[in-house]
Amino acid sequence: MRRVGIALLGCGTVGRGFVELVERERPRIAARHDVDLRIDRILIRDNDKERAGVDRRLLTRSAIAAIDDECDVVVELIGGVHSAGAFVRRAIANGRNVVTANKALLAMNGAELFNAAAANDVSIGFEASVCGAIPIVRVLKSAFAGDEIESIEGVVNGTCNFILSCMERGSAFAEALSCAQERGFAEADATLDVDGVDAAQKMRILASLAFDAPVVRESVVGIRGVTPHEIERARIGGNSIRLVARAERIAGGVAIDVAPRELDANHLFANVRDENNTVVVRGRASGEIVLSGKGAGALPTASAVLADVIEIAKSPSRRTAYAI
Ligand SMILES: NC(=O)c1ccc[n+]([C@@H]2O[C@H](COP(=O)([O-])OP(=O)(O)OC[C@H]3O[C@@H](n4cnc5c(N)ncnc54)[C@H](OP(=O)(O)O)[C@@H]3O)[C@@H](O)[C@H]2O)c1
Repeated sequence: MRRVGIALLGCGTVGRGFVELVERERPRIAARHDVDLRIDRILIRDNDKERAGVDRRLLTRSAIAAIDDECDVVVELIGGVHSAGAFVRRAIANGRNVVTANKALLAMNGAELFNAAAANDVSIGFEASVCGAIPIVRVLKSAFAGDEIESIEGVVNGTCNFILSCMERGSAFAEALSCAQERGFAEADATLDVDGVDAAQKMRILASLAFDAPVVRESVVGIRGVTPHEIERARIGGNSIRLVARAERIAGGVAIDVAPRELDANHLFANVRDENNTVVVRGRASGEIVLSGKGAGALPTASAVLADVIEIAKSPSRRTAYAI
């Protein structure tokens, strides 16, 4: 059995979920995949924070100690672009495979990071960066190999959907947002969620996998302007308001559009509630394929991170082709 050492960067919502899941699933993963996963180091900022279920001996505040230690996979669950980007670059330069849930980093610097990964013959796993537990990245990377994708449309931001669902049940916007934050669904900077930026970043990642074409048009509107009155009026009419994100092939490239939409009660997306996500991929030959599931939260997101770690552990020298 091969021992696979993991340096975990970040032990917040998803990081703690990852620690819990590795602990819980290690025997099954060893029996099924013949790899023994071990978390060797955990990078954090604040040594005094309570972290139930986490072995304090693994904690370090030194990014260099965590990344430069002998490890096979660096799992980046810090978020943000600057520190996370520096750590991921260092890991790649050191010849480490990387798994990340960081859509902001990939949407902004994906091309550079994937080129660096290819040059260093390492992989970057990023399933968890879009739609939490839903395996949309795998589906786009392999299941549609024989078809041309025409469009991708979905409810892809768990925080916005949770807020809109709470508002339908009578909560105020601020109360619903703080509830989403308490449950660990929201980004550290929640404006990325509510202004639609997070959804647009996810669509950029999906578009880069689905279309061999540049994004030539992007329109992004979040849910900040959706009023309780509009939600109530929609509800009385039997409708629902959802933040809908769409990427489609147009002349000269790809168009991305993110905006709140009032949807008929029978619409697939009208029935997506709370932190759940639904994505519809339309293929020229295959027609519509629908994927649904939890788009945020500790364990659902950690399950996608862990799937990437296992895939890399099983075939460590396979590179991931990708371009934004
Ligand atoms: N939350 C979700 O449901 C979800 C879903 C999908 C994807 N994601 C993505 O997953 C990533 C992590 O999200 P999260 O919700 O788990 O974030 P989080 O709860 O804010 O946790 C971030 C962790 O990173 C550590 N950290 C932050 N900056 C650091 C630095 N400069 N040096 C060392 N440690 C640092 C923090 O340390 P301290 O604990 O010491 O403060 C904390 O442990 C993000 O990229 C996010 O977009 C999250």
